[in-house]
Amino acid sequence: ELASLKNSYKNDFYIGTALSADQIEEKDEKVDSLIRKEFNAITAENIMKSMFVHPEKGKYDFALTDKFISYGKKNKMFIHGHTLIWHSQLAPWMEKIKDSTEMKAFMKDHITTIVSKYKGKIDSWDVVNEALNEDGTLRKSVFLNTLGEQYLIDAFKLAAAADPKTDLYYNDYNNEEPAKRKGTINLIKKIKEGGGKVDGVGIQAHWRLESPSLEEIETSILEYSALGIKVAFTELDITVLPNPWDLKGADINQNFEGSAKMNTYPEKLPDSVQEKLAQRYSDIFKLFLKHKDKISRVTFWGVHDGQSWLNDWPIKGRTNYPLLFDKQLNPKKGFEALIELK
Ligand code: XIL
Repeated sequence: ELASLKNSYKNDFYIGTALSADQIEEKDEKVDSLIRKEFNAITAENIMKSMFVHPEKGKYDFALTDKFISYGKKNKMFIHGHTLIWHSQLAPWMEKIKDSTEMKAFMKDHITTIVSKYKGKIDSWDVVNEALNEDGTLRKSVFLNTLGEQYLIDAFKLAAAADPKTDLYYNDYNNEEPAKRKGTINLIKKIKEGGGKVDGVGIQAHWRLESPSLEEIETSILEYSALGIKVAFTELDITVLPNPWDLKGADINQNFEGSAKMNTYPEKLPDSVQEKLAQRYSDIFKLFLKHKDKISRVTFWGVHDGQSWLNDWPIKGRTNYPLLFDKQLNPKKGFEALIELK
């Protein structure tokens, strides 16, 4: 029998995956046994986001979240909560909150209700997700607009009050790049100075074959852990397809949907690219192992290529190959490379 990821890395860090609603409901036995064999940490890909869990004011829907928790407990997995405060995938009623009084009440109710319901059951939380722009400044959102930067401190205070023992994370993408990294470090310092508890930083790690560089990743691990916090790679995948905004002269407002031009490998990923991807995963994990004392968890954003969000983002209907298992659930070269590293 082939070695598994979770066993190979059990003395290093958790190996996680994001679960779709179908996977939480164990709809496919084969997928389910792959999840249980390979991973010892789980994140809900969507169902804990505010639009699903809090669809109307004062009305919560915890049916799938309860299933997610019991799935994790049953399989003795590390359970990560994603996410409490995020500008995206909000319920429409939340977007209409217009003043600080209403927003304060919303945050108190939302964070306290969810975090205390699962007190002692969720090992770590993304308290705030994606609060920064690429240049490190604060992103405009309904939260920033109504409360100013105080909302960040408040969010972490409320979460700590509701469950003092769970680990609290700030999570973002591209925060291994210098400007955004600087912004993230300032943000975490500010939250701590304001009396909030921050236990870790999440680097989403929606990466590419060519970037970010290993140097930027390593500098990020070192600079973040110098703040006295844990570093987690929370949504790892590596696209092999071009992003529209990488194309010279591309208009990012153009509608690329269904553009065959953007779908470079519709039938099968060429072996040469498959190997490049495996090498990239291997390089990245070699670095992770070098700093394993600073890394708490590495979570992939999905189980297999067939259900990766990158088949639909940023363009709908593409065929992407960003993970370690193909859509038939077979391990790819990248999987073998990561087992070989150990
Ligand atoms: C994505 C999911 O994978 C998709 O299914 C959904 O349609 C949109 O959100 N950053 C995050 C994740 O923090 O929650 C996002 O997940 C991917 C980017």
